[in-house]
Amino acid sequence: MAPSRSTILIQGESGTGKEMIAKAIHANSPRKDKPFVPINTGAMPSELLESNLFGHVKGAFTSAIASKKGLFEVANGGTLFMDEIATMGMDTQAKILRVLQDRRFMHLGGVQEIQVDVRIIAATNVDLRKEVREGRFREDLFYRLNVISVDLPPLRARREDIPLLAQHFLDFYANENGLAPRKLSADALRTLVDYEWPGNVRELENSIERSVVLSSGPVIGSDLLPGHITGRSFQDTLMEHNPDATLFNILEDIERRIIVEKLERCNWNQTEAAEQFHIPLSTLNQKIKRLNIEIRKKGRE
Ligand SMILES: Nc1ncnc2c1ncn2[C@@H]1O[C@H](COP(=O)(O)OP(=O)(O)OP(=O)(O)O)[C@@H](O)[C@H]1O
Ligand SMILES: [Mg+2]
Repeated sequence: MAPSRSTILIQGESGTGKEMIAKAIHANSPRKDKPFVPINTGAMPSELLESNLFGHVKGAFTSAIASKKGLFEVANGGTLFMDEIATMGMDTQAKILRVLQDRRFMHLGGVQEIQVDVRIIAATNVDLRKEVREGRFREDLFYRLNVISVDLPPLRARREDIPLLAQHFLDFYANENGLAPRKLSADALRTLVDYEWPGNVRELENSIERSVVLSSGPVIGSDLLPGHITGRSFQDTLMEHNPDATLFNILEDIERRIIVEKLERCNWNQTEAAEQFHIPLSTLNQKIKRLNIEIRKKGRE
């Protein structure tokens, strides 16, 4: 669908990758060297949205102290990505329909018609047909937008993507943090594949980023995944290896893990770790002794 100028409607739950798909379509189209202009049409009041889309002439309304180009012009030759279109006001919907029909519009307060060549990609995370049935979205605009439709399934409906996406994010965040490559333990991977992912790919990405940042070796186990994903509470995680632990033991264990993690990130340089903790080196050394932390030699895994 990329080569044509046909309008595309992308529907999918939050975090499924709608904006990413829109960018990919643009990048694979003959318009790729022209602007890709995203606008969140659901996030602003109608007047502001219209002045953003159509631009305005000086004096069109009280605060219009200078004339301004609209995003339809800014995106000329390229792609305008209209995100969250379902919540757009009815009046604005009518105006947009007109632009979609003949690619002409006027600045607010202006008299001259402006012709543009813009491809529209729209996205929504609600069922737009239902919005039409319930009278909140214009049917004619729906058909104008829905020339080509892309339905992005939720992540739980394409679990075979989870290992691929997880590895992609592991590589990305290890690289971003200057760490050696990471991979998931078999157990951690199984946990990710079984989880429901209400936040879809975005939630997966955030979980992997967190686990990479917390990891101290090449293999990431399920203990580094967020508790609501593994179904374990923070306490369960802490008491995993010692069910008889007292509160004192648990707190010591937390302190030990935090210190070890910091030391690992500082290449086992105690002076640097103490500085980052904002405590004297002598205090850190006392803790290392009391908590039986074994100082490993320098060098990262
Ligand atoms: N197939 C994919 N490969 C790599 N990263 C992806 C993929 N799909 C989504 N992502 C990443 O997941 C995150 C969410 O994607 P995106 O913002 O495109 O979702 P969205 O559907 O627009 O969400 P929302 O409805 O909340 O705006 C982004 O960081 C994106 O880079
Ligand atoms: Mg989005």
